Amino acid sequence: MAELLSTIVRSPLFALDAERAHALTIAALAGWARAGTPLARDCGVSPRLASRVAGLDFPNPIGLAAGVDKDGRAIGGLFALGFGSVEIGTLTPLPQAGNPRPRLFRLVEDRAVVNRMGFNNGGIAAALKRVAALGRRAGMLGINVGANKDTADRVADYVAGVSAAAPHADYVTINISSPNTPGLRDLQHGTALAELLAACMAARATTPLFLKVAPDLDRAAVDAIARAAIEARVEALVVGNTTLSREGLRSAKASESGGMSGEPLATMARARLADFRSATGGAIPLIAVGGIASGAEAYTRIRAGASLVQLYTGLVYEGPGLTMRMLRDLDALLSRDGFASVADAVGVAGG
Ligand code: FNR
Repeated sequence: MAELLSTIVRSPLFALDAERAHALTIAALAGWARAGTPLARDCGVSPRLASRVAGLDFPNPIGLAAGVDKDGRAIGGLFALGFGSVEIGTLTPLPQAGNPRPRLFRLVEDRAVVNRMGFNNGGIAAALKRVAALGRRAGMLGINVGANKDTADRVADYVAGVSAAAPHADYVTINISSPNTPGLRDLQHGTALAELLAACMAARATTPLFLKVAPDLDRAAVDAIARAAIEARVEALVVGNTTLSREGLRSAKASESGGMSGEPLATMARARLADFRSATGGAIPLIAVGGIASGAEAYTRIRAGASLVQLYTGLVYEGPGLTMRMLRDLDALLSRDGFASVADAVGVAGG
């Protein structure tokens, strides 16, 4: 562990400010994809990993979570790392600068990140131009949409985002769970949620619509969201976003405000997944996110009811080879336990 940490701390990217390192990584991935350089060797991703969810054929169940490539600049390069899906965004109708810097912090001792980016993005129209210019994609492309910070009508922003994104995406995610846009999480509750879901379902035409929720929800809120999502016929729930909790952190930077992600989020994310699984009874696919950084953890979430998983912070600490390692390890675990497909293992842990 100590050795691993010192390797990370010595890494050239870790010598840079976190946001600068992130921008350089995206630029490098975008450049590699343009040059057509294969990043991940075809190490024979197993057919056992192919996953049909919400009517979509994911080549494997490990996806890149929203926030890494907000503006869709490096989609080809990110697929080349081995991801079965890449979710770009969050994109808002109008470009916006986000919060003042610094707004992204590595908590190295905790293998965590705190961010208060505030939906910095170049606006949905510019990103959709990049998406439209892409050739064949190696996996499923999700477009994650949100509301501008100073909009007069949040629901109208989501509807605009969903209707613009739907023709270009394999699926669209509505993100109502960022802790960094004041009041946004209020949309997770009561009639506000039902109205938002109905409006977005009407706007998505035939493209599957996913809903991304916060991990900071009590059991009553989970039950209400599950009911509303099933009633509205949303195709999947993404469980979930970053947390406001700082439980178990040692780093001095833990006191920075914003959403926390990475290893210390895993316990809470597992608990919410279990809550949503029991609230939905398998009636709607669940996508597990939060503190996943190994094939073993992906397998645990699948057994607990996730049809797919996504990750972000694991890449920061484990590097770009993580996805291929996870695919290999997940495949070995499924095979060890006699599962012919991911779908066969979904929810077997019960509870
Ligand atoms: C995020 N995340 C995020 N989620 C989202 O729906 N829209 C977004 O724009 C962002 N932006 C963002 C920026 C940064 C810097 C981080 C670290 C995270 C949340 C992300 O998709 C994921 O839900 C959480 O990070 C939890 O997963 P990990 O990071 O523990 O694997």
